[in-house]
Amino acid sequence: MPVDGPVPWERAEHTGAKHDIYRRYLKRWFPILLGGARNAYPSATYAEGFAGPGVYAGGEPGSPIIAMQTLLQTVSSESPVVRFLFVDDDPRCIRSLNEQFVAAFPTRPRAHDTTPVVIVDGTCTDQLEPQLDKIGAWGQPILAVLDSWGNVPISYQLLKRLAGNPATEVIVTLGPQSFIRFVSTLGPAADDVFGGAATWRQIEHMTDGAAKRQHVLTCYRQTLATAGFTFLLDFELIDRRGESLYLVFGTNHVRGLEKMKDALWEVDPVYGVGFRDPRDEQSEALFNFTDPHLAPLSRLLLREIQRGPAQGARVHDLRQFALHQTAFRPEHVIRALTPLRDQGSIQADTPGAIRIKTMVRAAAER
Ligand SMILES: C[S@@+](CC[C@H](N)C(=O)[O-])C[C@H]1O[C@@H](n2cnc3c(N)ncnc32)[C@H](O)[C@@H]1O
Repeated sequence: MPVDGPVPWERAEHTGAKHDIYRRYLKRWFPILLGGARNAYPSATYAEGFAGPGVYAGGEPGSPIIAMQTLLQTVSSESPVVRFLFVDDDPRCIRSLNEQFVAAFPTRPRAHDTTPVVIVDGTCTDQLEPQLDKIGAWGQPILAVLDSWGNVPISYQLLKRLAGNPATEVIVTLGPQSFIRFVSTLGPAADDVFGGAATWRQIEHMTDGAAKRQHVLTCYRQTLATAGFTFLLDFELIDRRGESLYLVFGTNHVRGLEKMKDALWEVDPVYGVGFRDPRDEQSEALFNFTDPHLAPLSRLLLREIQRGPAQGARVHDLRQFALHQTAFRPEHVIRALTPLRDQGSIQADTPGAIRIKTMVRAAAER
């Protein structure tokens, strides 16, 4: 979307699928953190650094409205304090977002002191951290949705501070094309996206487009890991025209990782957007969600088994690999291993069905 283009703009296919993921994740996030369970927190903050106008040209809601709707649908009105913070550097978006909140929630559903909504005009770099200070967000969980146009103008210092805050998670939109196209002209601000490291610039010497995209993603994953996020999940959304966009999720809780993956695999195929595991060498889409295409996972597992110790790997550990290192769920692993065993690429230590305790190893080269 051009910076000077109209506000609001048409909702892209990616965006519909992305919103579905946000909605499904928030449906889990709010109750887990605030739902009155023993470990629930007294407050939480949902913050966006690139909030947008709150609506699309076709009337579809923007992510800030979706977040508020999901809160209202999932936790009772007596739930603890939930702060909403929205930053955008386009005054037209700020004006529209204020109007959309009034239009979507004409009778304020929750009082300001239990659910403050703060909308701020300014850049994410200048405003998000000081505003989080101002609303007293630190020390309690924060979900930061950092949905830029893909160029990720987010300060590394903010990422570090978020990673060190309790039960805090980030969802970052990364569009590798903006880095690939302008690598030779982008100045030090582009290195700042990667925590000051210039390793991403190696794409200048690469010829293969997929390898360049993979490298930018790997560098960004490294940035989030160095900032302090233990668990990362990234996946590629591809629309019908083949345009791709990465969502990178960082958390310090394995449960957050599991829930995000559940949200991903539930996304409605009607958006016409497919998912790819960026690590799959053949870039095969995982289009059919009820009957997932597991061939990419089979390939990833085979590579993992071949790289591992000669005695093989336990299925239990491969399930952990799938959870932490791929876009797939642990439940997919046995289904992805079975064809590998049937075609003779791997051997199992027990006959019959593959189980969690089974050891599998690469078949000897013939
Ligand atoms: C992809 S749109 C956000 C869409 C919104 N999150 C949604 O899903 O409905 C990106 C937004 O970031 C804003 N923006 C671009 N650069 C920014 C910056 N450096 N700081 C804050 N906002 C910025 C744009 O005005 C635009 O509204």
